[in-house]
Amino acid sequence: MKLLTLLFAALALASCDNTSKDSTNTPAAAPQESSLSGNVEVLHWWTSGSEGAALNVLKEDLESQGVTWSDMPVSGGGGDSAMTVLRTRITSGNAPTAAQVLGYDIKDWAKINGAVANLNTIANAENWDSVVPEALKNFSKHNGVWIAAPVNVHSSNWIWINKEALDATGGRAPTSWDELILVLDAMKANGLTALAHGGQAWQEAVIFDAVVMSLGKGFYKSSMIDLDTRALGGAKMLEVFRRMETLRSYVDDNFSGRDWNIASGMVIEGKAGMQIQGDWAKGEFVKAGKKPEEDFVCIRFPGTEDAVVFLADQFVMFDIKDSDKPAQLAMASAIMKPKFQSAFNVVKGSVPARLDVADTDFDSCGKKAIADFAKASKNNGLFGSLAHGHAAPAAIKNAMYDVITGHFNGVYSNEEAVKQLVIAVAAAK
Ligand code: GAL
Repeated sequence: MKLLTLLFAALALASCDNTSKDSTNTPAAAPQESSLSGNVEVLHWWTSGSEGAALNVLKEDLESQGVTWSDMPVSGGGGDSAMTVLRTRITSGNAPTAAQVLGYDIKDWAKINGAVANLNTIANAENWDSVVPEALKNFSKHNGVWIAAPVNVHSSNWIWINKEALDATGGRAPTSWDELILVLDAMKANGLTALAHGGQAWQEAVIFDAVVMSLGKGFYKSSMIDLDTRALGGAKMLEVFRRMETLRSYVDDNFSGRDWNIASGMVIEGKAGMQIQGDWAKGEFVKAGKKPEEDFVCIRFPGTEDAVVFLADQFVMFDIKDSDKPAQLAMASAIMKPKFQSAFNVVKGSVPARLDVADTDFDSCGKKAIADFAKASKNNGLFGSLAHGHAAPAAIKNAMYDVITGHFNGVYSNEEAVKQLVIAVAAAK
C-alpha cells in the first residue's frame, strides 16, 4: 500500500509541473495513505451473465488494492437507459466515480466544462498513448487530456452459429449473402428459428451495420460516417433494406423486446440456428461452457471479412471530490494493466484495448478477433459502429434507429425506408 501511495504522490507531483490548464480538471491530487482504501461508484449496463462475470474481474482487482466497489447497474443493452440515468446524476451534481460510455457520447461529456476528470497523471506515467490505438484515443482523449480508460474493443459484424444446426444443413459456414440465405432456409426447413433476434432498435441497428458493410467499406463510410445523402438515398441503401426485409422473415414471432442475451441463449440451446450480434454474444457462449468449433462457429458477416465494425467500452471518469480521486485513479490504472485487459476480455468476448496484449488465453474466436482488429487497424479496415455510437453522434444514431426499427417492424416499405432515412438524418444534423 505504501508503495502505491508513494507512486501516486510522485506521479501527482510530476504531473503538476507541466499539465496545462484545459477544459477538464487538473490531475488528481496526491492521495493520502488512508484514501486508497477508497470507494468507486460505477454506472454501467453490464447485467447479463457474462457481462457480470467480466465486471467481477475488475471489482476483484480493485478490492485486492483496498478499493471497494459501489455498483450502479442500469439494464438495457446498448446503454441508452444507462445514459439517461447518467445525465440525471450529472445534472443533479451527483456524479458517479466512473460510467461505461460509448464513442461519441464520451465526446459529449468532454465538452461540458468541469464534468470529467483529468487522467493524465496516470496515463502519462503508464504510457497509454503508445499502446492504445488511435481509433480509441479519438474518443478517450479531449484536447490532449485522457478522460476515459478503454476497457476493450468489441466488434459487431459477426454471426454466431450453432454447430449442430449448421452441420444439419451440410456444415459449411456461409461466405456470401446467397449462401447465408441457403443456410437460413435449410435451418428453417429443419424446424428451427433460423435467426435468433432481440427486437430492440439497437439490435436491429447491429444487423443493419453488418448489411451496410457487406455492400462495401466505401459504402459504409459514405453512408454511416460521412452521412452522404447520395449514399443514404441511393440504390445500395434500397438493397440494404431489401436484405433487412429478407432477414426479418427468418425471425420468430416473439422477437419483440427480447434482450440480446436471451436471443444468444436460443442459439446456445439449439432452439435457433444463428444470431447476428456483437461479440458480447460470445461471452454468453463461453459462460455457458460452449467451445468454438465444437458447439458454435463464429464468422464475420458474409462480405465483411476484411472489415471490423468496432466499438469500445470506456469508463469515463467524472470530476468528484478530492478524497475519492486516488481510488478513481487506481481504477483507471487497473483497467489499463495488460494482465487485466487479457483476463477481462477473455470473459467479455471482446479484445484488449491495448495492442500489446498477447492472445495466449483467448479461444479461436478471440484469437481471430484480435488478429482481425490488428489487421484492420493497419489497412483502413476499421470502422466505427453506427449502432453503437462510434460512427456518428447520438442524434444521428437515434434518427437512424427510428427508421431501421420502423422498417424491421413493417412500418416502412423498402422504398419508403430509404426516403425516411435521408429525411431523418438531414433533420438530425
Ligand atoms: C454494448 C456494450 C457491450 C454489451 C452490449 C450489450 O453497447 O458495448 O459491452 O454490453 O452493449 O449490452
